[in-house]
Amino acid sequence: MTPQNTEGVMARLKAGTAAQHAVAESKPLEAALVEGSIGQAQYQKYLSQRWLIHRELETATDRALTADARLASLNLPSLYQTKNLEDDLAQFQTDRKLIQPLPGATQLIQEIQKAAPAVLMGIYYVFEGSKNGARFIAKAMAKAWGKGDTTGFRYLDPHGEAQRGLWMKFRSDMDAIPWTATEQDQMVKAAQTTFDAISSLDDTIHAG
Ligand code: HEM
Repeated sequence: MTPQNTEGVMARLKAGTAAQHAVAESKPLEAALVEGSIGQAQYQKYLSQRWLIHRELETATDRALTADARLASLNLPSLYQTKNLEDDLAQFQTDRKLIQPLPGATQLIQEIQKAAPAVLMGIYYVFEGSKNGARFIAKAMAKAWGKGDTTGFRYLDPHGEAQRGLWMKFRSDMDAIPWTATEQDQMVKAAQTTFDAISSLDDTIHAG
C-alpha cells in the first residue's frame, strides 16, 4: 500500500514538479516569450498547439465533472482557455482546421483521452499553474509588440488582477478534495509527464 500523505496534494504537486518547472522555464521558446522577442509565426504555432491541447483537456474535464462529483467545487469551466485561444488565434487569421498536432501535443492528447479524473487533474494543474508565470509573459509581449495592455493576450493573461485570488482558490479547493494516496501519486506522475511533454513541444516549436 502507498503510505498515507499528511501534506496537501498541492504541496506534493509543487514539490514533485519543481525540477520539471525549472526545465520548462529555461526553454528557449519560454525565454523568447518572456523577452517578447518571439516572432508572430512562432507565437501562432505556440497558441495553435495549446489550442489543440486545451480543447481536449476541457472536453475531458466536462466528462470528468459528470463522472466525479468531487470536482464540482473547483468551478473548472470558469477557468477554461479554449475560447481565449480561439480569440487570440483569430487575430492572425488562423484556419484552425489546418492545425496538426506536433509530437508533444499528440502524446498529451492521448494521455488526456484515457485519464481518470485524478490523472486529469494532475494534467490540469500544470496548465492552471502556468497562468501565474504567463501573466508576466503577457505584459512583456504587450510591451514588445507596442500594445497598450494585455487584452490581445487572452490565453496568457485570462484573469488579469483576479489571477492571484483564483489560483489561491484552486489550491485550497484541490487540497479540500479527499484524494486517495494512490490518486495523489497518479496525479503527481501525470503532472510530471505533462511538464515533459510541454518542454518537448516547446523545443519542437522553437526548432521549427
Ligand atoms: C518563462 C517561463 C515561466 C516563468 C517565468 C514561470 C514563472 C512562474 C512563477 C513566478 C510561478 C510562481 C507563482 C506563485 O507561486 O506565485 C510559477 C508557477 C507555476 N508555473 Fe511557471 N513559469 C514559466 C513557465 C511555465 C511553464 C511552461 C509551465 C507549464 C506549462 C509552468 C507551470 C507552472 C505551474 C504548474 C506553477 C504552479 C506551481 C505551484 O504549484 O505553486 N510554468 N511559474
